[in-house]
Amino acid sequence: MKKLVVFASGSGSNFQSIIDAILNGQLNARIVGLMSNKEEAYCLKRASENDIPTVILKASDYTSEFEYEQKLLEQLHTWEADVIILAGYLRKIPASIIDAFPNNILNIHPSLLPKYGGKGFYGIKVHKAVLEANEEESGCTIHIVSREYDEGPVLGQSRVPVLKTDTPEQLAERVLIQEHKLYPAIIQQHLESLKN
Ligand code: GRF
Repeated sequence: MKKLVVFASGSGSNFQSIIDAILNGQLNARIVGLMSNKEEAYCLKRASENDIPTVILKASDYTSEFEYEQKLLEQLHTWEADVIILAGYLRKIPASIIDAFPNNILNIHPSLLPKYGGKGFYGIKVHKAVLEANEEESGCTIHIVSREYDEGPVLGQSRVPVLKTDTPEQLAERVLIQEHKLYPAIIQQHLESLKN
């Protein structure tokens, strides 16, 4: 069974949807660890409730970026990670990690990429930009992580309508419902593609 390491910095509702998909048999994988960079993040609580080991690594705790990346890599090897799942991880993944897991780092972004992606487009800012541009639809995208922010081959998208009355928070909520369905399904699809 493939081993997943989830990276998260926030609430971890996507992390939860992956845990739930494993529990209900929709996703055939094991989460061997949660990597975070925020001590107070709610995703850590979700991990402890589900007996998932957690490690918090912050680049600022190391004297050099190299040392930090070495530590990160070492931990991923200790966990014997097959696939890395980014679920609201608010730090750019170092190139050395991307190179160590070629085509095996997945990310979810709350827009229909390539629209509203790249540096500065995260969290509620994405949904504000969508509303300001009077878009009629939005959604979420799951893609393979490459060296550039929010680029890399797209594995799947879900669309939602944008309502005239939407606040950014209401739009975020509608997109998030789709995220929770799409991410486990795409992870399962990706794991099946690895077997061939
Ligand atoms: C999601 O909107 C995801 O698309 C983005 O960060 C958010 C994480 O939410 N990358 P949660 O922590 O999973 O609730």
